[in-house]
Amino acid sequence: MRFSLRSSLSTLSVLATLSKQAKSSSCSYVDGNYYCDETSVVVYNNVGFSSSYNDVTAMDESSCSCSTSSTSFSGTLSPFDEELSVHIRGPIQLKQFGVYYPSASTSYKKREVDEEEPCEETITTRKHAHKRDVAVEYVEVTATVYVNANGETITTSITPQTTTTAAGEQNVASPVEHEASAVSSSYTVVSTVLSGTTTAGASSTSTTTSATSTASTVAGAWERVAYYTPGSATNVTFMNHQGGSGSGVWSTCFGNSLSYASSDGKSCASSSTVLDDVTLTSDYEVVMFSADECSGQNGDCGYYREGIPAFHGFGGKYKIFVFEFLMPSDTDGSNSNQDMPAIWLLNAKIPRTEQYGSCSCWESGCGEMDLFEILSAGSNDLISHIHDGQGSGSEDYFQRPTSSSMKAAVIFNGEDGSIHIVEVSDDFGSTLSEDTVNGWLEQTGSTVSL
Ligand SMILES: *[C@@H]1O[C@H](CO)[C@@H](O)[C@H](O)[C@H]1NC(C)=O
Repeated sequence: MRFSLRSSLSTLSVLATLSKQAKSSSCSYVDGNYYCDETSVVVYNNVGFSSSYNDVTAMDESSCSCSTSSTSFSGTLSPFDEELSVHIRGPIQLKQFGVYYPSASTSYKKREVDEEEPCEETITTRKHAHKRDVAVEYVEVTATVYVNANGETITTSITPQTTTTAAGEQNVASPVEHEASAVSSSYTVVSTVLSGTTTAGASSTSTTTSATSTASTVAGAWERVAYYTPGSATNVTFMNHQGGSGSGVWSTCFGNSLSYASSDGKSCASSSTVLDDVTLTSDYEVVMFSADECSGQNGDCGYYREGIPAFHGFGGKYKIFVFEFLMPSDTDGSNSNQDMPAIWLLNAKIPRTEQYGSCSCWESGCGEMDLFEILSAGSNDLISHIHDGQGSGSEDYFQRPTSSSMKAAVIFNGEDGSIHIVEVSDDFGSTLSEDTVNGWLEQTGSTVSL
């Protein structure tokens, strides 16, 4: 959950979905969201498209301005094939968290290519991967955002940009104005954002992915690359948003940056610290990255805010996130987000720039996926949404685990461009067999086609 723009996006997507099908009489409509049937599986199909987002290229502390550059993406699961950070918000108790990638022996695995050359499109086929032999379509400075150190608002207006891509298509971006309030900062931001430009036909020429079906299986076993259970973690860095008091930074322009989280998740630590067996209460958020440090500003993670501890997220078209968690009720308080637990994923560039504010690629659609989210205080129905240019959501809900824990797997299946969120009962060992994962992929429930 971010600021108010997000709820209107979610309302819009629900309305769009609604117009396609008649609601069953069992659906209820609460705070702008439909809740229909309880489910244990939500599958998103046809994830991935061609568009662009505004990548942050500079955060200027002297003028409180934010510069961006339009970066194109395309292909299966895009932009969710990019590196993602994992977010949890209380009331929540995390009992296990893990990330799996296909085993090295699995023939189609070419993650190294994705990681080293994130700007170039990779088309993955069933048996092999190859890089598409086309130049980056267009990368161009398109927007500079606003100043308001003294409560004044300065809007930079932008002329529509027309650029020619390597393949000869034209992209015409029209400026769109948004107003948003920066939650964690003392300034008001009026941001000018270029709407996503779809490069029609740009990705159709060389796509050789196998035919899609409702449950494409994936060959080979999967190995665990990151794992957490209370008090012990491998390749997981726990962070929160309290920069400036031990790690990270604070400024009047951009507020608190990311910081290492303390062992109770609630305050700032000076170095990487493993989360204890704690119940985060309402509104506390912990963010998980890998333990792979970024190579420097504008290095292998792209631009990030100066002075932060910066780590890689979890990238690629084939990845599995597993969770075991409880979301006990927490009615004893009046925080914002009181009794509204959530688990969600963001494009990892968002928290590394400004997660609660306008200086990130979020508004231009670089990707947020809500896996399990309570959207009305005190509700026990967890729903899921995708926020990017293909945004949509499920109207069926998972039962919130208030008293005994729930285990779930989220499978990014680069084979057919699907993302499966599945309640499971298996152990999260150091490997997952092909049968286990394909068993999860074959479970049916609620389907959302993008
Ligand atoms: C840690 O996670 C990162 C991000 O997914 C991955 O690239 C790296 O290989 C992992 N490290 C180990 C030791 O598994």
